[in-house]
Formats: sequence, C-alpha cells, structure tokens
Amino acid sequence: MIIAITNQKGGVGKTTTALNVSAAMALMGKNTLLVDTDPQANSTLAFVENPLQYEESLYNVLASNNQDIKKIIVNSTVPGLDVAISKISMAKLEPSLLGDIDGHFRLKDVLEPIRGKYEYIIIDTAPTLGIITLNALVAADAVLIPIQSSYLCLEGTDDLLETIEKVKRVANPELQIIGVLVTLHDKRTNISKDVVERIKGVFGKKVFRTMISKSVKLEESPAYRESVFTFAPSSVGAEQYRKVAREILRRAKN
Ligand SMILES: Nc1ncnc2c1ncn2[C@@H]1O[C@H](COP(=O)(O)OP(=O)(O)OP(=O)(O)O)[C@@H](O)[C@H]1O
Ligand SMILES: [Mg+2]
Repeated sequence: MIIAITNQKGGVGKTTTALNVSAAMALMGKNTLLVDTDPQANSTLAFVENPLQYEESLYNVLASNNQDIKKIIVNSTVPGLDVAISKISMAKLEPSLLGDIDGHFRLKDVLEPIRGKYEYIIIDTAPTLGIITLNALVAADAVLIPIQSSYLCLEGTDDLLETIEKVKRVANPELQIIGVLVTLHDKRTNISKDVVERIKGVFGKKVFRTMISKSVKLEESPAYRESVFTFAPSSVGAEQYRKVAREILRRAKN
C-alpha cells in the first residue's frame, strides 16, 4: 500500500509522521520504503547516513522519463526501511514536470516496477499543493493528513480536500483518505478540546483515535538519525506512533 502524508500547511508533523510510521512498519517486520519528495529533504537527512555522498536523488529520477528509481534507493538507519532520497535540487523539478503532458504521473510510473517489493511505501511531501505533491497523490492508494492541534488548524483543508477530489476525478479514482492525525496536541490547554471537536466535525470517523502529543523526544530523535522507537522506546511519542501504525494496519485491511 502506498500512503502519501500530505498537508500543504508547513510544520504540522508530516515528516515526523512519515519517519515514525515508516519506522514502525519496518520494525513490525514489514518491508517498507520511505519516499522523500520534499526539496527540504528532512526525511532523508533524518534517516540516511551521510546523505551528501549520493550524487543523485529523486530529482534525477523524476526529471526525465524511463528512469529507474532503484538507483536512488538506499538503506536507512532503521533496519528493514529503505529511503528514496531527496535533495534540495528537487526544487528545480516543477518546470520540467509542468512542461510534460504526463508530468503528474512520473512518480506513479517509477514506483510501479518496485511496488510489489514493499508492503508499505510512505511518501513524505512538501508543504505545497504543487505538481510534486500531485505526483504523490496520483501515485498513492491513500492519503494520511496530519493536522496540528491549534486554533487555525483547519485553514486550508478546503483546498486540500478539493485537490484530493480533483485527483480522484482525473487520475486516481481509488484514492482514499486513510485517516486524519491530530499532531502537536496539548491536552492541558482549554482550546485543544475545542480544536479536536472541530477537526472531528469536518472529518468524523476519519480522525485516528490516537493523537500525537507534543513531545521533546519526537523533536530530538531525527538529529540522532533514529526513530523515536530506538531513541526513546518508552516515551509517550513512541507509544502514540506505535498505536497510529496499528490503526493504519487495521484500516489498510478494510
Ligand atoms: N509531536 C511533536 N512534538 C514535538 N515536536 C514536534 C512534534 N511533531 C513535530 N515536531 C517538530 O515540529 C517541527 C515541524 O515538524 P515536521 O518537520 O514533522 O513538520 P512538517 O509538516 O514535515 O514540516 P514541513 O511542512 O516544513 O515539511 C519539527 O521541528 C519537529 O521536530
Ligand atoms: Mg516535512
């Protein structure tokens, strides 16, 4: 199953979720690939040893037709997890994709030959609804939407949902929303309850039961090239991301 982690809002926990959900899958023995489509390359920097040693990235694979994605797939620091690496050069990709009649299908096309090799392919996306993110939505079976638990959390979700509907209509009718994940949650604040109610008002049962609290361990672990499961195995963040991964597995079966 291919899952795109998407929200065009910045800093809502997309990368944190992509890293820890893909690590959870791998640690549960599922062959997993993390695809970094963000020019910021935060996922790559978090889980790949010495990433500058690699000359090519997803940019080279998507910039022209008929490329083999295997050449930019490397081992991560998490056993059982591979990463298709990004670099800042991804930022130059948009014009080349926009100029091509099937520029929205490049990622889908390059993943096709390898998708049988992985039980889960998790795609981290940049904070935009540009053509690279559209490539992720066209390639995916499902989208996971992280939403930060904050006052303005629902700003922009209309555009996101409209984009998902458009992708379904034009290119990927099977695309489903596997779930909405409340992130950076702080149960102690008075508004947090109200925020969760509003998110549930829009997304109903799509909201995962598990919510991700603010946790220093989640913030620190990427700097040590670790998932939260090895960095702080008994932390709240580890427990919550383990639970989210299990919810995803259950929903993926249905
Ligand atoms: N649950 C959490 N608790 C504490 N810090 C968190 C949590 N989730 C994310 N962060 C921190 O918040 C910042 C933004 O998170 P993250 O990079 O995952 O968001 P993003 O949506 O991928 O951002 P971008 O849109 O820039 O790609 C990071 O510094 C991250 O470490
Ligand atoms: Mg990110």
